[in-house]
Amino acid sequence: MELIPEFIEEYASAFSSDEPDVLKKLNRDTRAKVLQSRMLSGHLQGRLLSFVSRMIKPGRILEVGTYTGYSALCLAEGLTEEGKLHTIDHNPELEDFAADYFRMAGRDDQIIQHVGEALDVIPSLKETFDLVFLDADKINYVRYFDLIFPKLKTGGLVLADNVLWGGKVFDPPDERDEEATGIVRFNQHIRDHKGVRQLLLPLRDGLMVIEKV
Ligand SMILES: C[S@@+](CC[C@H](N)C(=O)[O-])C[C@H]1O[C@@H](n2cnc3c(N)ncnc32)[C@H](O)[C@@H]1O
Repeated sequence: MELIPEFIEEYASAFSSDEPDVLKKLNRDTRAKVLQSRMLSGHLQGRLLSFVSRMIKPGRILEVGTYTGYSALCLAEGLTEEGKLHTIDHNPELEDFAADYFRMAGRDDQIIQHVGEALDVIPSLKETFDLVFLDADKINYVRYFDLIFPKLKTGGLVLADNVLWGGKVFDPPDERDEEATGIVRFNQHIRDHKGVRQLLLPLRDGLMVIEKV
């Protein structure tokens, strides 16, 4: 039998731990009320984010690209009791929607929302991070990574989403496709970067796991 990606994802989800109820509700609510709901990480990737976070028990997490808050809540599952998660999004229309879910999940005291351009907010954060999730516009991935790297602890992880960009990375993309060229540049940047160890996981749209060594 042929291995078809959608069937693999369905089967893998069925045999992975369930999402907490609040995330199921957030997933449904996002699909019903918010545009571009396919941007939400979803069950399988969400459980991976939770798993990684629970393994490293971070004190400080940074997320670039909050959207409706699904991945933030998955990442927050591993936070230490005193831990905080900073999440950035430039869309003010999503702020209250995500905040309601952070409250519902009992995480509103641990999650700090920043509404603004990630390129402005990241330099303003006076923190060092154990775990970072990169999931905003692909054009600026290299710039985000370079701003974040000095703020990442040794042994800390950056998880970067969409590094396969629907397969557009396999051939040199059209130069006018700024998102695709942004991802191609990012993957090359990480491959050539000193002081990192990386693994490109072909999960969903591709997740790059980068460790600062
Ligand atoms: C793919 S969605 C994030 C999905 C979310 N991490 C999840 O898994 O549920 C990308 C988000 O990045 C935000 N974004 C895009 N460009 C941005 C920028 N320059 N600065 C801050 N946020 C940005 C968008 O508004 C959008 O909500």
